[in-house]
Amino acid sequence: MPKETMIRVMRLEDLDAVVEIEKRSFPNPWPRFFFEKDLESGNTVAFVAENDCRLVGYVLGSCIDVELHITNIAVAEDRQRHGLATRMLHEMEGVARTRGCGFAYLEVRTTNDAAVSMYRKNGYDILYTRKRYYIDGNDAYVMHKELR
Ligand SMILES: CC(C)(COP(=O)(O)OP(=O)(O)OC[C@H]1O[C@@H](n2cnc3c(N)ncnc32)[C@H](O)[C@@H]1OP(=O)(O)O)[C@@H](O)C(=O)NCCC(=O)NCCS
Repeated sequence: MPKETMIRVMRLEDLDAVVEIEKRSFPNPWPRFFFEKDLESGNTVAFVAENDCRLVGYVLGSCIDVELHITNIAVAEDRQRHGLATRMLHEMEGVARTRGCGFAYLEVRTTNDAAVSMYRKNGYDILYTRKRYYIDGNDAYVMHKELR
């Protein structure tokens, strides 16, 4: 019987697996020290999805005043379309609410149909386009959701 995937808080020991998924997921992956720095910050909220001792996804965000800024999310390719990004997002939004965040926002490549669809399905709307936001010159949508 397949084991259930659980969502839990990210720890420093998770970073080898997180960095592997990051490298496979993005054209300009975050270096390891970005994750380390985030995990040291009291503002960071970070979760992983773990299945049978294998880390298969992660999400990071920072809660500052009333804003949750979602900074990174990825799911291993062979575990996509099983609702894991959605579950991790919900966990993070729940913690953000308890910390007094009234809304969440993020940047996403305008060409990233999968992520835009996932955020839309979870109640996020496009606020505006940030031209040449990414290092390779691509544009970003800024998407937003009320948490209250
Ligand atoms: C974007 C990403 C995190 C989604 O993870 P996921 O666990 O597959 O997402 P979910 O299963 O929760 O998807 C929820 C909904 O989003 C939409 N969606 C997700 N992936 C999609 C895809 N490839 N194409 C179209 N719609 C998609 C669907 O509506 C889906 O619901 P459904 O499967 O019932 O149709 C994943 O594709 C990924 O890791 N991509 C690479 C990294 C990345 O681009 N991160 C986002 C940076 S902003």
